[in-house]
Amino acid sequence: MTQSLSVFLRQERDTVNTNLIAFVQSMNAPQFLKDAIIYSIKAGGKRLRPILLLAVIEAFGKDRDLGFAPACALEMIHTYSLIHDDLPAMDDDDLRRGQPTNHKMFGEATATLAGDALLTYSFECLANEDQLSPILRTQLVSGLAHAAGPAGMVGGQSDDLSAEGRVLTLEELESIHQRKTGRLLAFAVEAGAKIAGAAYEQQKALMSYARYIGLAFQIRDDILDVEGEEGTLGKSVGSDVTNEKSTYPKLLGLEETKIKLDHYIEKALHSLQEANVPFPRRLQELAYYIVERDY
Ligand code: IPE
Ligand code: IPE
Ligand code: MG
Ligand code: MG
Ligand code: MG
Repeated sequence: MTQSLSVFLRQERDTVNTNLIAFVQSMNAPQFLKDAIIYSIKAGGKRLRPILLLAVIEAFGKDRDLGFAPACALEMIHTYSLIHDDLPAMDDDDLRRGQPTNHKMFGEATATLAGDALLTYSFECLANEDQLSPILRTQLVSGLAHAAGPAGMVGGQSDDLSAEGRVLTLEELESIHQRKTGRLLAFAVEAGAKIAGAAYEQQKALMSYARYIGLAFQIRDDILDVEGEEGTLGKSVGSDVTNEKSTYPKLLGLEETKIKLDHYIEKALHSLQEANVPFPRRLQELAYYIVERDY
């Protein structure tokens, strides 16, 4: 990773954290529940989805402050999905973002409710963002609900769990990846493009960019579950094998999987070129970062 990108990612992460923590601090909730929510929000995380949303706005030379509420709403949903994903009823993991998982600290009932609270509060924050026009807000609420809900992340998680112990076809696996992980990443791009006022053709090309980086992101996640370092990754490695998940490394082997990953990034970069945005550099760098990242 270039020094310029790592400085950019650190600065953006700090900006996102400041906004996100302010939103969550102003939540009205019983103290124990709020402690559990703040625990997972402050545990860390790359903040890739909000950073991507803001970067899309900046790729059009527009004011990224308009994206803070949608970016934070998206990260709240992502964090809820991780809290629930780690529960014993799902992947049953003990480590997340370098810390014990939420249910290990607060118990399963509170972890479930912390996820529920982040999910609902996310939409409250987004719907109340009066810097955005009511029409745009409604579009974003609808888009986020679609990305996160039964047709998107929740549906993908459901199929991911039903598929445990079964060997999937590549098509089935890709469909799960696209929904459980791809849709929230795609919402980052969709929201950024809408806020920036992108033309229809540009939005279409950017959605293709988003589709490929979303798939690439989950492929890299599956690779890291095999060859990552627990200390660096901040989550348990080998979880997919323990849970008998189908993954690209399992279906194709590591070498073929890495070829596929590079192929998707090339496709993402090609789509980005087609989008013809005025300042594409950060979006290019973020695509490369997804392949290179080691956590
Ligand atoms: C992990 O997402 C779960 C997947 C969708 C693969 P991230 O790798 O973005 O997790 P954080 O937010 O950095 O912890
Ligand atoms: C989860 O995928 C995607 C979510 C919607 C949370 P994984 O189960 O592979 O994510 P990690 O590896 O636990 O972060
Ligand atoms: Mg999972
Ligand atoms: Mg998991
Ligand atoms: Mg994983």
